[in-house]
Amino acid sequence: MTVDAQQAIAQDMAHHVHPQTNLRQHMEQGPTMITHGKGVFIYDDQGRQIIDGFSGLGCVSLGYHNERLARTAMEQMNTLPFAPTFYNRSHPKVAALGERLTKLAPGDVNRVMFQCSGSEANDTAIKLLWYTNTAKGEPNRRKIIGRTRGYHGNTIATVSLSGQPHMHAKFGLPLSEFKHTELPNYYRFHIDGETEEEFSVRMAAKFEELILAEGPETVAAFFAEPAISGGGALMPPEGYWTHMQAVLKKYHIKFVADEVVCGFGRTGNWWGSQTWGLEPDIVTCAKALSAAFFPVSALLFKDEMYEQMVHNSDAVGVFGHGYTYAGHPVGAAVSLEALDIYEEMDLIGHVRKVSERFLAHCYALGDHPLVAEVRGVGLFCGFELMQNASKRTPFDPSWKVGEMVQNFAHDRGLYLRAIGDRMSFMPPLIINEEEIDIACERFKAALDDTWAQVRGRV
Ligand SMILES: Cc1ncc(COP(=O)(O)O)c(C=O)c1O
Repeated sequence: MTVDAQQAIAQDMAHHVHPQTNLRQHMEQGPTMITHGKGVFIYDDQGRQIIDGFSGLGCVSLGYHNERLARTAMEQMNTLPFAPTFYNRSHPKVAALGERLTKLAPGDVNRVMFQCSGSEANDTAIKLLWYTNTAKGEPNRRKIIGRTRGYHGNTIATVSLSGQPHMHAKFGLPLSEFKHTELPNYYRFHIDGETEEEFSVRMAAKFEELILAEGPETVAAFFAEPAISGGGALMPPEGYWTHMQAVLKKYHIKFVADEVVCGFGRTGNWWGSQTWGLEPDIVTCAKALSAAFFPVSALLFKDEMYEQMVHNSDAVGVFGHGYTYAGHPVGAAVSLEALDIYEEMDLIGHVRKVSERFLAHCYALGDHPLVAEVRGVGLFCGFELMQNASKRTPFDPSWKVGEMVQNFAHDRGLYLRAIGDRMSFMPPLIINEEEIDIACERFKAALDDTWAQVRGRV
C-alpha cells in the first residue's frame, strides 16, 4: 500500500461517517479504498483489479471511463456551470432533457421535474400526490403503500415508504401514513404446491385486503420497483403485475413506478415498466440517467396531475417546492450526452445480446450446493443462498453466508453485493462477453470458497 493510500485510510477512519455501514466494523477495519476505475474494472489501494458486478450502486451503466461524458461536463462547466430553475428561469440543456425524457418514458407522462437523487425524486412524488389530492378536494387521501423489502430512498418519507426494517429501527420510523404490502418472493414464501400464478393472485389479494383495511379513499398511491433491487434483486413472479395492477385500477389508486435502478436498459428494455407491462401514473428515475457521472434524477407525470398543480399554484401564488440544484446544467448536459451514447451504441440491443451469456452462466450457478434459486433478466440477477434448497431452510443468519460470498468474491476480483443471504449481480451495461465469463468464474470460485467453509457445518 502506498503512503498516500495509508494516509487516505487514516483520514477516512478519523472523520468520515459512512452511510449504510456497520460503524464499529468500520472503526476496526477501515474502508475498502477504491482509487480509480476503467471500463467495468475498479482498482483498490492494493492495486487489485476488481470487476464491478454491482455497477457501483446499480448506477455505473457506462463503466468508469468515458471521454465524451468528461468533455461534455467540462464544456458545460466552462459555459454555464450553474443556473437556477426556480422563479421561471431556465437554460437550454434542461429544457432539451425534459422533452427527451417525456418522449422516452413509459406511459403518457408529459411533465418532468428534476432533482439530484432517487430519494428526492420519490420524495417529490409523495409531495405532489399530497399536493394534487388537496386540489382535487381529497386532502385525506394521504396514505402511501410500498412493499416489505422495497427500497425507495432515505429521506424521512422515502425511508418510511421503503420496507427495510434496519433503516427504520432507532429512527422512530416509518411515519404512520406509510404502509407495506407483501414481498413477492415466490421461492421463499410460496405454499407447497402453489404455482407462481396462484402465488401472484394471493399477493394481489393480500394487497387488496390492506387497501380495504386502510380505507381505499385514504390511499394516495402504491410505489414499486418493477423488479426489487435494494431488497435483493428479486424479479416479479409470473402474473404478479397483472394482478396487482387490476387491484390498483379497481380502487383508483395511483401507481408510481420507481425506475431508479431498472430505468435505462438494466432489464433489456429502456424501462422495467416495458419488461413487465406496467402502466404507471408517475415514473421516477435517476442513476443511469447520467451514467452516474453526475447526480441527476427525474420525476415524470401526466398533464392531468400538472393541471391540479397549476390549480394550487394559482391559489397560493406559487408552486412552493424546489431544490437549488434541480436541473443543474452540468447534470442535464451529461444526461443528454449519456442518452446519445445509449442510442448510438444501441445499449438495449447490447444488453439483450450479452444477457444471454450472462444469464446462462447465472442459471448454471444454480447447481452449486449453496444456491437455492436464481432468477434474472437483462443484466440483473438475484441468487438465494440456502442451507437446504428443497426444504427451503435458510442458513443461520449469524453465519453471514452472503457476506462470506461477498468477501471471497472481492478477494477473487469481483464486487458483488450480499443482501442478507441473497446475492445481487448487476454489472455495468457495457460489459462484454469475455468480461462476463471472467466475472462468473470468479463468482463460482467465491461460492466454492464459501462452501469449503460451511459444508462441515450443514
Ligand atoms: C429503486 C431505488 N429507488 C430509490 C433509490 C434512492 O436513490 P438515491 O440513493 O439516489 O437517493 C434507490 C437507491 O439505490 C433505489 O435502488
